[in-house]
Amino acid sequence: MKSYKIALIPGDGIGVAVTEAAWDVLGRAAHGGGFKLEGTSFPWSCDFYEKTGAMMPADGIETLRGFDAILLGAVGWPKRVPDSVSLHGLLLPIRKAFVQYANIRPHRLLPGVEGPLRASAFDILCIRENTEGEYAGAGGRVHNGTADEVAVETSIFTRKGVERILRFGFEQARKRRGKLASVTKSNAQKYSMVFWDEITAKLAAEYPDVEVSNYHIDAMAARMVMAPESLDVVVASNLFGDILTDLGAAIQGGLGYAASANINPERNAPSMFEPVHGSAPDIAHLGIANPIAAIWSGAMMLDHLGEAGAAKAVMAAIESATARGIGTEPGKHKTNEITASILAALG
Ligand code: IPM
Ligand code: MN
Repeated sequence: MKSYKIALIPGDGIGVAVTEAAWDVLGRAAHGGGFKLEGTSFPWSCDFYEKTGAMMPADGIETLRGFDAILLGAVGWPKRVPDSVSLHGLLLPIRKAFVQYANIRPHRLLPGVEGPLRASAFDILCIRENTEGEYAGAGGRVHNGTADEVAVETSIFTRKGVERILRFGFEQARKRRGKLASVTKSNAQKYSMVFWDEITAKLAAEYPDVEVSNYHIDAMAARMVMAPESLDVVVASNLFGDILTDLGAAIQGGLGYAASANINPERNAPSMFEPVHGSAPDIAHLGIANPIAAIWSGAMMLDHLGEAGAAKAVMAAIESATARGIGTEPGKHKTNEITASILAALG
């Protein structure tokens, strides 16, 4: 029987409960699909940091390298560990080390979920550059604590990095409705964003079957609210994509439904699957976190592993639960009720 090695990093807060829920559902889907998921759980988190002084062991990346995929819950507990420490100690280094340059985030309404917009028939795939740009980590501070203090944080856009994310977007557009929206701010940022636009135009010539539009980030934010049904694949830089995908989560009913996949398309290192939401310390012990975003992310993992049938079955089970009103409103159902309903739908 085919078997996949999965690294589980539940992390902090609600990350623990939603990862457990996703893992239960994935196990059931594997059983139905005739394959095995072999999970190894790592306690890397803010708790781990308080005990050891690091978010993961020094050889954490090398440990993860041996897995077929990583399923992550959420990272962060800002009252105990500054976010800049916890995220730079766990989530962000994994994305970079494993060259997970394509962060894919689907935004559409599940049946039975009412978003805040009048529009309901939208189906957007945001593709966020995930290894460089505004998150490159290039910068520094001098004259610390004085009136002359300076902080510099430089975005880095490389031809290789921009070309590969846009190419990934064009390929996705080809598999979907053939439309690609490239998001920049090239009217104000005249080096990096003009560079991005030029590469978009160059690739557009290679994909004459894909209809390309260019948007500035501010206009795209408005469009996602006013006319989301006009969008198909949206490609953006790391920070722009980060912001747009919280907006995407909002129009699909909230962060409880926003799934994501950090993909290494070359498959020379594991990809990582995680809900867009964070650890939500305010509701962490209430048992009311919506596990749907994590379970949907798990379905994306199955798809990436080549188990498309099982991935479809998980999505159908999620949709059957929400169509019956399960997990469609914050706090209406407990995490375990939503999970049980999805498990039951899986059969
Ligand atoms: C996300 C999150 C992270 C990001 C944070 C926690 C660093 O907001 O996955 O969208 O900005 O990438
Ligand atoms: Mn974000």
